[in-house]
Amino acid sequence: MDRRRFISTTAKGSIAVSLGIHLVACKSKSRIMKNTPIAICTWAFSKANEAAGKALESGMNALDAAIAGVAVEEENLKNTTVGKGGAPDREGNVTLDACVMDHNGNCGAVVCVEGYTNVAAIAKQVMLQTPHVMLAGEGAQEFAEKQGFKKEQLLTESSENAYREWLKTENYKPIINIENHDTIGMLCMDDNGDIAGACSTSGLSYKMKGRVGDSPIIGAGLFVDNEVGGAAATGMGEEIMKSLGSFLIVELMRNGMSPQAACEEAVLRTVRKNPDHKDFQVAYIAMNKQGETGSYCIHQGFAMMEYREGNNRQISSTSYLND
Ligand code: GLY
Repeated sequence: MDRRRFISTTAKGSIAVSLGIHLVACKSKSRIMKNTPIAICTWAFSKANEAAGKALESGMNALDAAIAGVAVEEENLKNTTVGKGGAPDREGNVTLDACVMDHNGNCGAVVCVEGYTNVAAIAKQVMLQTPHVMLAGEGAQEFAEKQGFKKEQLLTESSENAYREWLKTENYKPIINIENHDTIGMLCMDDNGDIAGACSTSGLSYKMKGRVGDSPIIGAGLFVDNEVGGAAATGMGEEIMKSLGSFLIVELMRNGMSPQAACEEAVLRTVRKNPDHKDFQVAYIAMNKQGETGSYCIHQGFAMMEYREGNNRQISSTSYLND
């Protein structure tokens, strides 16, 4: 056994002993026998989470399962804040943002992408096929085309009708839990115990042209450190970016907080700094290396999905405000 593998195996062994986790020798590597696989995602995206959970159960790795999970919502025409069918910006263009992060700390992201539905999958290709982490706009689109992704019209008839209605007033005040929700952030733990995640959104409805939120920003919309756990965000991206909420949660977990306590502290940072917090939603989900999960938000109404041991359930989140 080489030195690197010896250290890795020994470290996994000592972590497992301290956590009371049962290790089973599996040919060349140890397998962490927890109640894995686990998939969690923001909001009540039951089908997306189930797709990820079942993919994990079939042996898919955490990153690909998370991408497969978020793809369900990217392709859901009724979801007006993710993928195809997403609400457009003020000029009538649907622009999508996404990022992915794997268990080795590799990541990829795309921002302001028009004409391509599965942006989390494109973000994975940015991670794998380029020397960069993030591609934007036309560059991302040209890259997607070269990678063989299908070009599509993302503005559906119903999103266009809603946009034309909005144009009558052009009143820009996103409605809490309606027009700033539905970003899908997903965290998966596969049967190796590895954690990875994906995050995908069309962002705020009727945003300014070129606006990018937290979802494709590594550390804001999503962060994973396979030694510790992962976190993902939904809600008002401008606020989430100010505290790099997902990174913050992972660091708080590294320092001993549970996923629940870490999500609460991240929300409190925003609440303490911004007296206008009653006017927007910020919500987080998190999972640690032991498979514990948590969620917290400012306003009532947020929920997460959790798939574990073949059971996909919705968990209502506790909130800072009892409104
Ligand atoms: N959280 C999604 C966005 O603000 O774009």
